[in-house]
Amino acid sequence: MDRFLTADDLAKSLRRDVRDGLTATPKTLPPKWFYDERGSALFEEITRLDEYYPTRREREILTARASDIAAATGAETLLELGAGSGEKTRLLLGALNGTLRSYVPVDVSGDFLAEAAARIAADHPGLAVRAVVADYEQHLHLLPGGRRRLIAFLGGTIGNMASAARVGFLGRLRAGMGDGDALLLGADLVKDPARLLRAYDDAAGVTAEFNRNVLRVINRELDADFDPDAFAHVALWDAEEEWIEMRLRSTRDQAVRIGGLDLEVSFAAGEEMRTEISAKFRRERLEAELGAAGLSIAEFWTDPAGDFSLSLARPV
Ligand code: AVJ
Repeated sequence: MDRFLTADDLAKSLRRDVRDGLTATPKTLPPKWFYDERGSALFEEITRLDEYYPTRREREILTARASDIAAATGAETLLELGAGSGEKTRLLLGALNGTLRSYVPVDVSGDFLAEAAARIAADHPGLAVRAVVADYEQHLHLLPGGRRRLIAFLGGTIGNMASAARVGFLGRLRAGMGDGDALLLGADLVKDPARLLRAYDDAAGVTAEFNRNVLRVINRELDADFDPDAFAHVALWDAEEEWIEMRLRSTRDQAVRIGGLDLEVSFAAGEEMRTEISAKFRRERLEAELGAAGLSIAEFWTDPAGDFSLSLARPV
């Protein structure tokens, strides 16, 4: 396993993000910090909810198109940014088995990654599995090279970035790509706002717990005293930006002490703090943003319902 990111680097970036976010107006926290063990388990639970369609839809597309992806790319290396639950990976590895020699899962969490990599290595004798602990927003240039790489960025995580950040990220990704490489990008699509809101505010309250989990992470890692029950989950559709926004709304006037930062932060009753954007796309926007980054869409697939998209893009 290669490490470009140590536990110390991660701790530093959490401190910076929390200090910057909680002293800004309005307050914000980046979604990256939802995913400790509990947060990852809550997200897995979200992916099984009736209301949360993206994971199922992306799986439908992958199941239908895996062999097309294999034929179009002839990939020798599969690089997976933010290696998720492993199910999507299995679909891709199965389809690519004719040409694939190595699999490179990339994630910020080493523990999780080592386990997943070991499981995949055991199931695919002959496949070189090289896990990389890295932050794909910082370490793209350090990722292993190769002749025919398929870089998979799935799940709709690209939607966590605003447009300018997406183009920057895609541009850096593109800069490290050779002619024979391809990008497989999963992106959720614009649809009826009522359905989108249900997907981000489920009846069982799992997403609400997932949202509040960032406060528990900060309590543990930075010795803070957030009362998660004093924050209500908010999901809203921003029609202008075409993104879902998750917020935490303070249910009362309160002060929170973040011991590890020697910082005290006050929240007014009703004050809202943004914790995530999840942008939804139209094909034209994906084409434009990929194009601005020097990539062009070779294949664009959706599920039959048109809920989710997979783009296969190549350097121009
Ligand atoms: C993992 C970032 C794709 O934006 O839909 C799920 C995270 N947030 N429910 C998404 C999430 C609330 C998810 N991504």
